[in-house]
Amino acid sequence: MRVFSGIRPTGELHIGNYLGAIRQWIELQEKAECIFCIVDLHAITTPYKAEKLQKNITELAIAYLASGLDPEKCIFFVQSQVKEHAELSWLLGTITPLGELQRMTQFKEKAKKHPEYVNAGLLNYPLLMAADILLYQTDLVPVGRDQQQHVELTREIARRFNKKFGTPPAHHPVFKEPKVLLPKTGEKIMSLQNPKKKMSKTDDPQGCIELFDEPEIIQKKIMAAVTDPGKTIIYDSEKKPGISNLLTIFSLFSGKSIRELEKKFKGGGYEKFKKSLTELLINSLEPLRRKRKELLSREVYVKEILEQGRKRAQIIAQSTLQEVKKKMGLI
Ligand code: TYM
Repeated sequence: MRVFSGIRPTGELHIGNYLGAIRQWIELQEKAECIFCIVDLHAITTPYKAEKLQKNITELAIAYLASGLDPEKCIFFVQSQVKEHAELSWLLGTITPLGELQRMTQFKEKAKKHPEYVNAGLLNYPLLMAADILLYQTDLVPVGRDQQQHVELTREIARRFNKKFGTPPAHHPVFKEPKVLLPKTGEKIMSLQNPKKKMSKTDDPQGCIELFDEPEIIQKKIMAAVTDPGKTIIYDSEKKPGISNLLTIFSLFSGKSIRELEKKFKGGGYEKFKKSLTELLINSLEPLRRKRKELLSREVYVKEILEQGRKRAQIIAQSTLQEVKKKMGLI
């Protein structure tokens, strides 16, 4: 079984990325062939600073390692270093109707947020993501819920390509149809400041716990998290979205069920609950912070891991692209 996923190097990771994506990756690396990408070509579709991009890439590689991804057990590499991604993306664009790209929720949201920067790359973003996934003949794509629609489109593109260019009469498939893998809980961690919106660093940094936030910052953000009317700690995502989100985070970091937590904090009030959550987050993230600090001084080692990853990824990518070009009559 092959697994592929990626994260954009747009600054520090938050616990939404961690709970929605990386935690699943860590489990999967034990039982599947995993490929995790640092998707820099996706990161440049929204406003960014060119002089910061290389640092963000290294930081993300360090975050992968600090979170527990093991380069002995999985491949990780930088997307732009394997040029086959951009090439396949172009080819897939020629069989994808414009309307399908214009309908994507993320495109509509980002175009609304940056009306001055609605570039063609933003529209074509899902094609590049489909290329990422299909190049590696991926079976499973572990992501948070916001990326589910892009994986569904990838499946559609694979089906269309296989039908159009697969070998007749049986249409022997060129691409595998990948399946999305959402975590059982945590597929959408909400902002601490606006629990009706997903946690997103670019949208509101205060609503976001970063993976490497210092203890004082974690404390400030949790204590300032928006809660709901009333005093009871119960899970009700409609009526109590703030507390429900905090309960989800608590449950995922502690391994305790929401039921157990509701019982434990019954009658205790919001402040006591938030203090316990602060302590839990500080303790859970401490080993990651420590590992990151250690890795920050080992940049050569980190770069070497990315280079090894690139070599291994490129072998697979080249083989798929060769087959695709043959089928399309380009070779
Ligand atoms: P990105 O960088 O926005 O997010 C990385 C991963 O984190 C998940 N995520 C969340 N999960 C739960 N709650 C949240 N609040 C939250 N915010 C983010 C995302 O779902 C994602 O899994 N397009 C992708 C990157 C990508 C990719 C790929 C993923 C490029 N190519 C191929 C899979 C396969 C993205 O922008 O992720």
